[in-house]
Amino acid sequence: MKKAAIVYASTHHGNTLKLVNAISEKHDVVLIDATQQKQADLSEYDIIGFASGIDFGKFYSSVENFLKENLPKHKKVFFLYTCAKTSNRFTKSIIAEAKQKEAILLGEYGCKGYNTYGPWKIIGGMNKKHPTETEIAEAVSFFESLLLI
Ligand SMILES: Cc1cc2nc3c(=O)[nH]c(=O)nc-3n(C[C@H](O)[C@H](O)[C@H](O)COP(=O)(O)O)c2cc1C
Repeated sequence: MKKAAIVYASTHHGNTLKLVNAISEKHDVVLIDATQQKQADLSEYDIIGFASGIDFGKFYSSVENFLKENLPKHKKVFFLYTCAKTSNRFTKSIIAEAKQKEAILLGEYGCKGYNTYGPWKIIGGMNKKHPTETEIAEAVSFFESLLLI
Protein backbone atom coordinates (compact mmCIF):
# COMPACT_ATOMS: atom_id res chain seq x y z
CA MET A 1 0.00 0.00 0.00
CA LYS A 2 1.22 3.49 -0.88
CA LYS A 3 2.07 5.87 1.95
CA ALA A 4 0.58 9.31 1.30
CA ALA A 5 0.84 12.74 2.89
CA ILE A 6 -0.93 15.99 2.06
CA VAL A 7 0.58 19.32 3.04
CA TYR A 8 -2.17 21.93 3.12
CA ALA A 9 -3.21 25.46 4.02
CA SER A 10 -6.85 26.52 3.95
CA THR A 11 -7.04 29.84 5.72
CA HIS A 12 -9.78 31.76 3.88
CA HIS A 13 -12.92 29.65 4.45
CA GLY A 14 -11.67 26.08 4.91
CA ASN A 15 -12.64 25.32 1.29
CA THR A 16 -9.53 23.35 0.41
CA LEU A 17 -9.68 21.56 3.75
CA LYS A 18 -13.05 20.10 2.66
CA LEU A 19 -11.28 18.32 -0.22
CA VAL A 20 -8.41 17.21 2.00
CA ASN A 21 -10.68 15.96 4.79
CA ALA A 22 -12.84 13.99 2.36
CA ILE A 23 -9.72 12.24 1.07
CA SER A 24 -8.42 11.48 4.55
CA GLU A 25 -11.81 10.17 5.69
CA LYS A 26 -11.60 7.47 3.01
CA HIS A 27 -7.86 6.86 2.85
CA ASP A 28 -4.92 6.53 5.17
CA VAL A 29 -3.25 9.90 4.57
CA VAL A 30 -1.05 11.94 6.88
CA LEU A 31 -2.16 15.59 6.93
CA ILE A 32 0.29 18.41 7.58
CA ASP A 33 -1.03 21.93 8.16
CA ALA A 34 1.68 24.15 6.66
CA THR A 35 0.43 27.14 8.66
CA GLN A 36 1.22 25.29 11.91
CA GLN A 37 4.19 23.15 10.97
CA LYS A 38 7.18 24.34 8.98
CA GLN A 39 9.26 21.15 8.89
CA ALA A 40 8.60 17.45 8.33
CA ASP A 41 10.48 14.44 7.10
CA LEU A 42 8.67 13.52 3.87
CA SER A 43 11.14 10.83 2.83
CA GLU A 44 8.92 7.92 3.90
CA TYR A 45 5.95 8.89 1.68
CA ASP A 46 5.35 7.42 -1.78
CA ILE A 47 3.05 10.25 -2.85
CA ILE A 48 2.86 13.77 -1.48
CA GLY A 49 0.07 16.24 -2.15
CA PHE A 50 0.18 20.00 -1.79
CA ALA A 51 -3.23 21.60 -1.22
CA SER A 52 -4.09 25.27 -0.94
CA GLY A 53 -6.44 28.10 -1.62
CA ILE A 54 -5.19 30.58 -4.23
CA ASP A 55 -3.83 33.93 -3.23
CA PHE A 56 -2.97 36.37 -6.03
CA GLY A 57 -2.66 33.60 -8.59
CA LYS A 58 -0.49 31.22 -6.55
CA PHE A 59 -0.65 28.59 -3.83
CA TYR A 60 -0.38 30.10 -0.35
CA SER A 61 3.23 30.87 0.48
CA SER A 62 3.11 28.56 3.55
CA VAL A 63 2.53 25.58 1.24
CA GLU A 64 5.03 26.63 -1.42
CA ASN A 65 7.67 27.32 1.26
CA PHE A 66 6.98 23.96 2.85
CA LEU A 67 7.68 22.27 -0.46
CA LYS A 68 10.89 24.28 -0.94
CA GLU A 69 12.12 23.41 2.56
CA ASN A 70 11.03 19.81 2.93
CA LEU A 71 10.40 17.98 -0.35
CA PRO A 72 13.11 15.38 -0.96
CA LYS A 73 14.28 14.85 -4.55
CA HIS A 74 12.49 12.52 -6.98
CA LYS A 75 9.19 12.29 -5.08
CA LYS A 76 5.79 11.74 -6.70
CA VAL A 77 3.70 14.84 -6.08
CA PHE A 78 0.21 16.15 -6.82
CA PHE A 79 -1.67 19.38 -6.31
CA LEU A 80 -5.14 20.31 -5.05
CA TYR A 81 -6.60 23.78 -4.90
CA THR A 82 -9.75 25.82 -4.56
CA CYS A 83 -10.04 29.29 -6.05
CA ALA A 84 -12.44 32.01 -7.15
CA LYS A 85 -12.20 31.13 -10.84
CA THR A 86 -10.40 28.00 -12.03
CA SER A 87 -7.23 28.31 -14.09
CA ASN A 88 -4.39 25.86 -14.63
CA ARG A 89 -1.85 28.68 -14.25
CA PHE A 90 -2.34 28.62 -10.47
CA THR A 91 0.04 25.69 -10.15
CA LYS A 92 2.74 27.27 -12.32
CA SER A 93 4.84 28.62 -9.47
CA ILE A 94 4.62 25.59 -7.17
CA ILE A 95 5.29 23.24 -10.09
CA ALA A 96 8.43 25.24 -10.88
CA GLU A 97 9.54 24.65 -7.28
CA ALA A 98 8.69 20.93 -7.52
CA LYS A 99 10.77 20.70 -10.70
CA GLN A 100 13.73 22.08 -8.78
CA LYS A 101 13.38 18.95 -6.64
CA GLU A 102 13.15 16.76 -9.75
CA ALA A 103 9.68 15.68 -8.59
CA ILE A 104 7.47 13.37 -10.63
CA LEU A 105 4.30 15.35 -11.34
CA LEU A 106 1.20 13.17 -11.02
CA GLY A 107 -1.39 15.85 -11.77
CA GLU A 108 -3.68 18.41 -10.23
CA TYR A 109 -7.32 18.94 -9.28
CA GLY A 110 -8.79 22.39 -8.77
CA CYS A 111 -12.30 23.67 -8.25
CA LYS A 112 -14.14 26.78 -7.11
CA GLY A 113 -14.28 27.78 -3.44
CA TYR A 114 -16.34 30.30 -1.50
CA ASN A 115 -14.63 33.68 -1.75
CA THR A 116 -15.25 36.87 0.18
CA TYR A 117 -12.07 38.68 -0.74
CA GLY A 118 -12.32 42.40 -1.54
CA PRO A 119 -15.57 43.71 -3.03
CA TRP A 120 -17.16 40.25 -3.02
CA LYS A 121 -17.60 40.59 0.73
CA ILE A 122 -20.11 43.42 0.28
CA ILE A 123 -22.48 41.19 -1.66
CA GLY A 124 -22.00 38.15 0.57
CA GLY A 125 -19.21 36.53 -1.42
CA MET A 126 -19.01 34.47 -4.60
CA ASN A 127 -19.16 30.67 -5.16
CA LYS A 128 -21.21 30.35 -1.99
CA LYS A 129 -21.92 26.66 -2.40
CA HIS A 130 -18.41 25.63 -3.48
CA PRO A 131 -16.76 23.26 -3.20
CA THR A 132 -19.93 21.27 -3.89
CA GLU A 133 -20.45 17.64 -2.92
CA THR A 134 -19.70 16.75 -6.54
CA GLU A 135 -16.43 18.69 -6.52
CA ILE A 136 -15.43 17.10 -3.22
CA ALA A 137 -16.18 13.65 -4.67
CA GLU A 138 -14.14 14.54 -7.79
CA ALA A 139 -11.17 15.42 -5.60
CA VAL A 140 -11.43 12.04 -3.85
CA SER A 141 -11.67 10.25 -7.24
CA PHE A 142 -8.66 12.20 -8.47
CA PHE A 143 -6.66 11.06 -5.44
CA GLU A 144 -7.81 7.47 -5.94
CA SER A 145 -6.69 7.57 -9.56
CA LEU A 146 -3.18 8.45 -8.33
CA LEU A 147 -3.04 5.35 -6.15
CA LEU A 148 -3.22 3.27 -9.33
CA ILE A 149 -0.17 4.94 -10.93
C1 LIG B 1 -6.26 37.59 -0.30
C2 LIG B 1 -6.96 36.67 -1.28
C3 LIG B 1 -6.50 36.60 -2.58
C4 LIG B 1 -7.13 35.74 -3.50
N1 LIG B 1 -6.64 35.66 -4.80
C5 LIG B 1 -7.25 34.84 -5.68
C6 LIG B 1 -6.76 34.72 -7.01
O1 LIG B 1 -5.78 35.34 -7.41
N2 LIG B 1 -7.43 33.91 -7.89
C7 LIG B 1 -8.54 33.19 -7.50
O2 LIG B 1 -9.12 32.48 -8.34
N3 LIG B 1 -8.99 33.24 -6.22
C8 LIG B 1 -8.39 34.04 -5.30
N4 LIG B 1 -8.86 34.11 -4.01
C9 LIG B 1 -10.00 33.23 -3.62
C10 LIG B 1 -9.53 31.99 -2.84
O3 LIG B 1 -8.47 31.33 -3.50
C11 LIG B 1 -10.70 31.00 -2.69
O4 LIG B 1 -11.74 31.58 -1.93
C12 LIG B 1 -10.23 29.69 -2.05
O5 LIG B 1 -11.28 28.75 -2.15
C13 LIG B 1 -9.85 29.85 -0.59
O6 LIG B 1 -9.44 28.61 -0.11
P1 LIG B 1 -9.35 28.24 1.44
O7 LIG B 1 -10.70 28.51 2.07
O8 LIG B 1 -9.01 26.80 1.43
O9 LIG B 1 -8.26 29.09 2.02
C14 LIG B 1 -8.25 34.96 -3.09
C15 LIG B 1 -8.72 35.06 -1.76
C16 LIG B 1 -8.08 35.90 -0.88
C17 LIG B 1 -8.61 36.00 0.54
